[in-house]
Amino acid sequence: MTAPKKRAAILISGRGSNMMSLVEAARRPDFPAEIVVVISNRPDAAGLDWAKAQGIPALAMDHKLYESRAHFEGQIQSVLTASRVDLVCLAGFMRIMTPAFVDAWRDRMLNIHPSLLPAFTGLDTHARAIASGVKFTGCTVHLVRPDMDDGPILGQAVVPILNTDTASTLAQRVLAAEHRLYPKILELFAAGLVTVDGNKSSTISDVNGEWTRFSPQV
Ligand code: GAR
Repeated sequence: MTAPKKRAAILISGRGSNMMSLVEAARRPDFPAEIVVVISNRPDAAGLDWAKAQGIPALAMDHKLYESRAHFEGQIQSVLTASRVDLVCLAGFMRIMTPAFVDAWRDRMLNIHPSLLPAFTGLDTHARAIASGVKFTGCTVHLVRPDMDDGPILGQAVVPILNTDTASTLAQRVLAAEHRLYPKILELFAAGLVTVDGNKSSTISDVNGEWTRFSPQV
């Protein structure tokens, strides 16, 4: 008997291209997760219309309309509970969550960040990577912890920085890597193939870690 699919929510704030890559991947009949709801804290997020057009419940929950961060998160929590969500995927969700919310979803909330963490946390990762002179950057999928861009790393993809790169050309190539990395990590994680011990994760029966560590030709 196959295990029931994990019910995943995706939280976005804008374009939603990572959300799209997760939704597309989850169409596969054997994918171990299904996307049951998309929530945006910005009502004008382009990704919301796309999700609705796919028939996925997609809700705008404008953080500015709530009296406090805790109240905003309480409403998100109500939607997640009502949708019987098992896993939360942050995909370009640009709000910092309170420790209480993060702890409620400990080891069940994933995020994607456009750098090789722990380098270049925060914003403007590509301009800062270029300015620093590093030769490689990339993206990271990690479990969310209360500190920003912190938590056990589940997978990374490496992207070279070219001499001709601007923040914008580099962002495009890293984004292409994000679109490959996030679905793969969600697949492994939702299938229960990832173990986490402290800050370290490993993937059952992937001795060389090639599923969680790759350098796509982008
Ligand atoms: C992505 O590059 C994602 O890694 C980044 O925002 C972009 C969202 O694009 N997330 C962060 O910087 C979080 N710290 P998308 O809306 O097209 O997925």
